Parts: sequence; C-alpha cells; structure tokens
Amino acid sequence: MYRVENCQSSLILKENRIYQGSMVLVNQKCPVRYQLSERELCPVFPNQPEIQMEEESAGMLRNLLQKIQGMESITGVSGYRKKEEQIRIFEDSLQENGRDFTEKYVAFPDCSEHQTGLAVDLAACSPQIDFICPEFPYEGICQTFREKAPDYGFVERYREEKQDITGIGGEPWHFRYVGVPHAKLMQRENMALEEYVVWLKQFDLESHPLEIEEKEWRYQIGYVRAQGKITKCSIPEFERIWESGNNEDGFVITLAVRAQGNFA
Ligand code: DAL
Ligand code: ZN
Repeated sequence: MYRVENCQSSLILKENRIYQGSMVLVNQKCPVRYQLSERELCPVFPNQPEIQMEEESAGMLRNLLQKIQGMESITGVSGYRKKEEQIRIFEDSLQENGRDFTEKYVAFPDCSEHQTGLAVDLAACSPQIDFICPEFPYEGICQTFREKAPDYGFVERYREEKQDITGIGGEPWHFRYVGVPHAKLMQRENMALEEYVVWLKQFDLESHPLEIEEKEWRYQIGYVRAQGKITKCSIPEFERIWESGNNEDGFVITLAVRAQGNFA
C-alpha cells in the first residue's frame, strides 16, 4: 500500500497492483497472487521476533496492544506465513485432526490471509496454547482488544455467523488489518470482507465516492475498475492516500484530508 503525503490530481494504477495492499480479499476463490518480500515485514512483539506482519499492520497492532496495555497478557501465535508453512500446517492438521476440521479452520495453501502479512492469530497468555484454535475469549483483555481493534484498522475476520460467506469456521483469534476507515465501515455495515469488497463497488471513485469522517480525518473511498495494464483516474486533493487492489478486478482508493480542511 502507498501512503503519499502530497497532493496530486490523477492516479496511474498498474495492473499488478490489483493483487497488493491492505484491502486484498484472499479466500478459496481468490488466492494470493503477490509474494511479500522480507523487507516489507516487521516483527510485532519485542520478545517474539518470529511473529511478523506487513509493516503498517505490525505498527498498528503494536499501537493497539500498547494502548490497552495488552503486551503482557496477549501473545502472538501466528503472523506472516510463507506458502511452504501453510502447506505444512494444512498437512499436519489433516493428519492430526482430519479433513472436516482442517478445512474449517485452516485455509488451503495460497488461500490464506496469513500469506499476505495482514493477518495475525492471537492468544490470551497461557502455558498451553493451541496453534490452530488458540483461546481468545469474548471477555477481559481479549474482548477489550476486539472492541478497540477497528480504531486501529483491524477486524475479527471469521465470525461464526459469517461462516457460509467466508467458508471458514468462527475464529475469535484471527484478526485482519484493512485500515482504519474500512475496519470502522465493516463494523458499521456488519459485513465480512467478502461482502464489503462487493459493497464498495457501488462507490465509483470519480463519480460518487463514499465519504466518512473518523477522528480528525475526513475520508473519501472509491472503487476503480482495472482497465488493462494501466488504469488512470482523476482524484480530488488529499493529504494522505492509500491505494490497494481488491485481488480480483480493481482497486480501492482511500483519500484523507484533515476534517477542518477544505474538501475539494
Ligand atoms: N486459519 C485461517 C483460515 C488460515 O489458515 O488462514
Ligand atoms: Zn489465522
């Protein structure tokens, strides 16, 4: 994802960017197409260097944990995974837990959000932590984390009631970074990411973007359908911009200006 601090009036979006960024939908129908490089990854917990995430998501997760003073009582279980790791986890689970359980709780290789660096599994600290289904209860510090998560751009990705839509069982421990305005909107609209990326398509960036005010920022959010190798579109003035592909057919562009500023 890009974060640019100056103004411009037109965007040029390259086709390969459809598959990158914090809004990519990854599931069994929409596999990962972009391989993150080592330098895009960052550790989240000071004492767990093996739990890595994409840089912006790692920073936001750390901020959230610090805000709720959760660093002592919440631990990372799994962050970024290479394809080989997802294969090993899937195959080990098939052996240990059988096919029904595995397909409910472990994504097929290349169909896991963990391969994007935007997802993390968390657990309440405990001497025994289940790697596939860690305990992250709907009470105490874990619930405080869950309630604050959208303020930091995270959503609980696999809710029990959305199983028919996501294809994955309820996973109270799995959180996905999508960015602040999107996490708040997904919560407001009660949508899984599968529903949200479709819903966003009605908000054409040039003709009628979605507007939302959140804290000191006023956001404009819009969908841009990819037009081949290069897609061009014009945009209003902004202070910050996030560009992401939807991993299917286009881009989600998020522009922000300070709420008290002029909104062109
Ligand atoms: N547990 C989630 C679905 C994954 O394996 O990506
Ligand atoms: Zn997970």
